[in-house]
Amino acid sequence: MTEIKTYPPAPDFVKNAHIDAATYQSMYEASINDPEGFWSQQAERLTWDKAPTKIKNTTFSHPDVSIKWFEDGELNVAANCVDRHLATRPDQTAIIWESDDPSVSRHITYLELSEQVNKLANVYKSLGIGKGDRIVLYMPMIPEAAYAMLACARIGAVHSIVFAGFSPEALAARVGGCEASLIVTADEAPRGGRSTPLKTNVDKALAICGDVKTLVVERTGADVNMVEGRDHAYHTLMAHASTDCPAEPMNAEDPLFILYTSGSTGAPKGVLHSSGGYLLWAAMTHEIVFDYHEGDIFWCTADVGWVTGHSYIIYGPLANGATTLMFEGVPTWPDVGRFWAVCEKHKVNQFYTAPTAIRALMAHGKEPVEKHDLSSLKVLGTVGEPINPEAWNWYNETVGKGTRPIVDTWWQTETGGHLLTPIPGAIPTKPGSATLPFFGVQPVILDPATGEEVTTTEAEGVLCMKDSWPGQMRSVYGDHDRFVKTYFSDYKGYYFSGDGCRRDADGYYWITGRVDDVINVSGHRMGTAEVESALVAHPAVSEAAVVGFPHDIKGQGIYCYVTLMDGEEYTDELRKELRDWVRKEIGPIASPDHIQWAPGLPKTRSGKIMRRILRKIAENDYGALGDTSTLADPSVVEDLIDNRMNK
Ligand code: WTA
Repeated sequence: MTEIKTYPPAPDFVKNAHIDAATYQSMYEASINDPEGFWSQQAERLTWDKAPTKIKNTTFSHPDVSIKWFEDGELNVAANCVDRHLATRPDQTAIIWESDDPSVSRHITYLELSEQVNKLANVYKSLGIGKGDRIVLYMPMIPEAAYAMLACARIGAVHSIVFAGFSPEALAARVGGCEASLIVTADEAPRGGRSTPLKTNVDKALAICGDVKTLVVERTGADVNMVEGRDHAYHTLMAHASTDCPAEPMNAEDPLFILYTSGSTGAPKGVLHSSGGYLLWAAMTHEIVFDYHEGDIFWCTADVGWVTGHSYIIYGPLANGATTLMFEGVPTWPDVGRFWAVCEKHKVNQFYTAPTAIRALMAHGKEPVEKHDLSSLKVLGTVGEPINPEAWNWYNETVGKGTRPIVDTWWQTETGGHLLTPIPGAIPTKPGSATLPFFGVQPVILDPATGEEVTTTEAEGVLCMKDSWPGQMRSVYGDHDRFVKTYFSDYKGYYFSGDGCRRDADGYYWITGRVDDVINVSGHRMGTAEVESALVAHPAVSEAAVVGFPHDIKGQGIYCYVTLMDGEEYTDELRKELRDWVRKEIGPIASPDHIQWAPGLPKTRSGKIMRRILRKIAENDYGALGDTSTLADPSVVEDLIDNRMNK
């Protein structure tokens, strides 16, 4: 095994950093020993209409899980992200928009942001939307997506963003799931020189879930179908809207947004986040983990359709009065130097991306990076999946020139923001480790067999949290029982993350990946059950089992075992048809990498599919199949291996 190097923070960096090692230690201890005192002080980061006096009221105790932070406080999230900056920085750029087309970018000041958000909030009201109503956003990466989110917050409506790569079927399920009163969309979403027909997809979705009002931004000017009375042109309504819209006072616990995410079973669930705790967590982690300073240009390359975009393109940076960059394109278009060209053009100081993007760019060598002046970079970050040390080293050496700290941030849609992460001026890094807990976070490693905490420093097992933090999700939208069952019932008294984890002799955490039936494809989280249910919805398919397998660029790929109905023929043509079918049912991100015909699947005598065996076969690892004697028909396994080899 190669020796693991440790990278301490550089003394020059520590000098200017918000948090050094000693401060981390003392603040961490205060956050655990006196959560009330610690969080009431941190709450002052936000501007409250009514400051909270009740700080923490949380229990993980099964089945009465209840999470409340700052429960008597009142604030408005849009007022925190926009209005409070108007006195001090009206002319500072709030959003730099870099279009898919490299020759087009725009700067939007806090004053302009305020005007656009207020106008749109008034447009929402004119369409009959009020506090508590749900609005689905199905948007390109354009400033209007930020306006649409903040305008919801301004009037107390709850947004649910659906990633623009999802299919009409997936969109319909999410629109119906939260009973949305409005969909905000655009004619088309340009990406990488191509366009996704968003409005056409919305039309198809509405044919499935029934009519809902829409508001359509003109992005490319493409001709789209507009139904009188149902579909409204964004620019027409905005032209007449007033820039004056009072911010609705909201309770800290009022919902800010719903975001659907995949789990190991069933349909995606609507993760529900709060106004006060969530915003505080996004703002605080944004400042401390990226060591953000006044005047810095911050770039998170995620899409606003994922939680990373919510917390680190919009809410965290704007709450801090930062300049946040919003990028419409892809890293490889018009060429593989695009990320670095954007960093150079806008003098980016903090750059935050996913390991899958780093691996994809690493394959093209150093030259596209070295062509660009990256001297403005101060901190580099990663998120979404474990980063392999090879990619970490390339990021460090080629992009960071060996002098920028790398923050490998572990967190989830459910956690609202970072939980395990280096703090760049305080915590020495090790390639591949998310290092140590953020303030208030109490990770534990449990033995999956006994459910007991492993108390030795060196430990391996499943990753849980012992107590709540302000950014934690509050419930599954409309289904609190599912919330309790999913996160608090396997290991009673703890929040269960679904991830496996190892703790080393220094107490550092190393995420080993999901231990449930969730896979991580190019940083996109997906339930194998979702892909299976898409496959069995095809008339030729009788049964399907889906597993992840290691993929050089994507982290994990999608491997499907498919059994056809009696009388159906196992042809290459059908294989292609099934691949297209899954893309249509879920979206291109769920496109299967392999479909293996499986006239039989390995099942126990009680009919349960043994996924462990299917994973091993997909990984090409036949030596470690383990015990197959409990299978109803062990010969199925040999057939599958033969088939795999002959593929
Ligand atoms: C994985 C994305 C290792 C993990 C913010 C988690 C990571 C899931 C890391 C959540 C990391 C995220 N190292 N694994 N730094 N960050 N993950 O909800 O398996 O899309 O449970 O949130 O991504 O994915 P989600």
